[in-house]
Amino acid sequence: MTSFSSVFENRAPQVSVFLRFLISLHCFSLISVRVFAQTSPVFACDTTKNPKVASYGFCNASLGTDMRVADLVQRLTLQEKILFIVNSAGSVSRLGIPKYEWWSEALHGVSNVGPGTKFSSLVPGATSFPQVILTAASFNTSLFEAIGRVVSTEARAMYNVGLAGLTYWSPNINIFRDPRWGRGQETPGEDPLLSSKYGSSYVKGLQQTDDGDPSLLKVAACCKHYTAYDLDNWKGVDRYHFNAVVTQQDMDDTFQPPFKSCVIDGNVASVMCSYNQVNGKPTCADPDLLAGVIRGQWKLNGYIVSDCDSVDVFYNSQHYTKTPEEAAALAISAGLDLNCGSFLGKHTEAAVKAGLLNESAIDNAVTNNFATLMRLGFFDGDPRKQLYGKLGPKDVCTPENQELAREAARQGIVLLKNSAGSLPLSPTAIKTLAVIGPNANVTKTMIGNYEGIPCKYTTPLQGLTASVATTYVSGCSNVACGTAQVDAAKKIAASADATVLVMGIDQSLERESFDRVDLLLPGQQPLLITEVAKAARGPVILVIMSGGGFDISFAKSNDNITSILWVGYPGEAGGAAIADVIFGYYNPSGRLPMTWYPQSYVDKVPMTNMNMRPDPSNGYPGRTYRFYTGETIYTFGDGLSYSNVSHQLVKAPKLVSIPLEEDHVCRLSECKSVEAVEQSCKDLAFDIHLRVQNKGRYSGSHTVFLFSSPPSVHNSPQKHLLGFEKVVLTEKSESLVRFMVDVCKDLSVVDELGSRKIALGQHLLHVGSLKHSLNLRV
Ligand SMILES: *[C@@H]1O[C@H](CO)[C@@H](O)[C@H](O)[C@H]1NC(C)=O
Ligand SMILES: *[C@@H]1O[C@H](CO)[C@@H](O)[C@H](O)[C@H]1NC(C)=O
Ligand SMILES: *[C@@H]1O[C@H](CO)[C@@H](O)[C@H](O)[C@H]1NC(C)=O
Ligand SMILES: *[C@@H]1O[C@H](CO)[C@@H](O)[C@H](O)[C@H]1NC(C)=O
Ligand SMILES: *[C@@H]1O[C@H](CO)[C@@H](O)[C@H](O)[C@H]1NC(C)=O
Ligand SMILES: *[C@@H]1O[C@H](CO)[C@@H](O)[C@H](O)[C@H]1NC(C)=O
Repeated sequence: MTSFSSVFENRAPQVSVFLRFLISLHCFSLISVRVFAQTSPVFACDTTKNPKVASYGFCNASLGTDMRVADLVQRLTLQEKILFIVNSAGSVSRLGIPKYEWWSEALHGVSNVGPGTKFSSLVPGATSFPQVILTAASFNTSLFEAIGRVVSTEARAMYNVGLAGLTYWSPNINIFRDPRWGRGQETPGEDPLLSSKYGSSYVKGLQQTDDGDPSLLKVAACCKHYTAYDLDNWKGVDRYHFNAVVTQQDMDDTFQPPFKSCVIDGNVASVMCSYNQVNGKPTCADPDLLAGVIRGQWKLNGYIVSDCDSVDVFYNSQHYTKTPEEAAALAISAGLDLNCGSFLGKHTEAAVKAGLLNESAIDNAVTNNFATLMRLGFFDGDPRKQLYGKLGPKDVCTPENQELAREAARQGIVLLKNSAGSLPLSPTAIKTLAVIGPNANVTKTMIGNYEGIPCKYTTPLQGLTASVATTYVSGCSNVACGTAQVDAAKKIAASADATVLVMGIDQSLERESFDRVDLLLPGQQPLLITEVAKAARGPVILVIMSGGGFDISFAKSNDNITSILWVGYPGEAGGAAIADVIFGYYNPSGRLPMTWYPQSYVDKVPMTNMNMRPDPSNGYPGRTYRFYTGETIYTFGDGLSYSNVSHQLVKAPKLVSIPLEEDHVCRLSECKSVEAVEQSCKDLAFDIHLRVQNKGRYSGSHTVFLFSSPPSVHNSPQKHLLGFEKVVLTEKSESLVRFMVDVCKDLSVVDELGSRKIALGQHLLHVGSLKHSLNLRV
């Protein structure tokens, strides 16, 4: 999605011209007074303003949603209906319906990126959690949900005082397919299972009401960007023009699963279609992808929204239809309900007049939109008298919420290297700590993009200084680090008991509409790190702050760099969390949610090649831990702690037989696989029990990963994640972890045509260094 400011800059220059005109007339202050003076929520069916509304069926909360929506739709003219298929929805005063702004964002905290949400003196900030890629590294599904709950509580509190909307276009669950992607930071990483669990858990946290009624919504979430969207702007190829060429197999086992889970398991209220084309069709104009899959197969209960403005993009940039009316008709008949942007507002009426679209198609769209607002209580009168009516500014940025932001960062931080005697540092033994690097004392960098205004910041330097005396040199004037101040940095490292280098990048080098072209730390950062490591008196801890991974092989192999931490963009409390880990107040438990490739990878692989699977005929190496076999710097699931944990297998079958009919073709002749939909594997499940033992002196949490390597049929992944479970292990304690393996679901692979098959033969299950062979036969 384009952020609001870039909409101003790129897509609607007339708006900023208009604003400048207003400013020149000294009217701007009037406008801002009006915006910031608003302290009451926007809602329909306000009997205090218009007593007549009480008699309208759509305002009658004792009727069912379907009946209320039908009542409303039949009261509207075609022109009025069209007001409700764009994000800045219009008002119908005769029915007591005010304007509503659909576009708000809450990727990792209530954000003011969308026009539906603002901060003011009443609520100057909201809790800013770590950027999603770091939260994902916690592998803790209850944390994902807990964050969603806090965000929706703060959103409701802000809505009650007129500062926020009810519809949030988050989370971003696209697969982090290529390390260069500028928006990889917003996602839960490269694995379909983790992305599915993250998406459905965060959505539940946002949406579920405290009274547990699934027909109601606390706020409405939106899973985006559907689908195969993961390139922004790479070497001149941009998302507005990119045609993602995707095989059916990759579609079904990589790109679609998070969206499917979001709709089916998360029961999300919205899905957003993307800018790009998939196999020659713009996603927002594809009836198979929208009406067919999302609404037909997955049964979305909610609305389908375009990115801002995908319809304009497929008409004006992709020239996909000849006329704007055809574009409007195509989008709506494909299943689009709401247009972020104004294209449908301008061209839909003409499309109907031209006979390209029936009014009934618009009825369907507004029905889906109104039903969502209905579930949010928008048509139930004053929200301050309803379930969340008591929430207000006092419920935003509470100490508990801010503590959860710190906890989330702690749980996500990944310890990648730790030589004996390095971390944790003793806060009593360390008399002086040298803190160096362009990200050592940053604020806004820590909250990444799709951010809000945080409650407060704790920078890494502030976090570390709270425990020990520090000296500080930034070392580079910014992350690009054109010229490093090597001497000043070496000097403080040489006289300190330990050195922490906080390096990495920020939004100037990876962001929306801007992909990276290489994987090296920028400018003279490597020089600064290497020189400091040579001069330092004590242990040297390298902290990488970033969304994507780097080729830091030079640091990995340098014995003087005793520890390496990846901290993502750790949110408002990032500095406190980094200090918690460095001083051992928290035992790190984060694991990488994506592979870190060597630079040679991006020199060989064009970002535009969507294929997940390797192609031996041309040396294409494939993507992610599931398919890529080449050298890595670090891989998916990597991460150390201050303890050693051992795994033992307690229970697992060696053989699973799939019952087949007497005359099944696979009983009569040898088969490599059988259909996963057959009666035979349905309800066929078994348990795996593992004993996990913390051998160390530190308590902490530990994520148990259950991977499987299926037999190599149908170009199956070399390895894929079947399940993960995070457990708390106090020092020297053990715990039993149980996985239920569903043969159809977990041991199947997607074949070349997109159908699920159970591969017959040896499946190798792995947990840590433990391997267990399981034979699947008919
Ligand atoms: C709301 O609907 C219920 C159920 O049909 C009906 O009994 C009630 O009279 C309606 N309320 C109003 C104000 O019309
Ligand atoms: C409009 O509805 C009529 C009657 O159901 C149908 O025959 C026609 O194909 C529809 N037109 C479009 C453009 O969908
Ligand atoms: C670190 O950043 C904080 C917050 O921006 C600022 O107040 C402080 O002066 C900075 N410290 C140093 C030593 O530059
Ligand atoms: C490591 O540090 C020592 C001094 O402590 C120095 O002599 C040596 O050159 C350093 N090695 C590297 C690879 O930086
Ligand atoms: C973990 O075990 C390995 C191998 O036994 C050992 O080398 C290492 O020091 C241990 N680490 C900790 C933190 O106990
Ligand atoms: C997961 O996160 C929740 C919320 O912070 C926390 O209470 C719980 O202990 C975490 N689970 C593990 C295993 O660390």
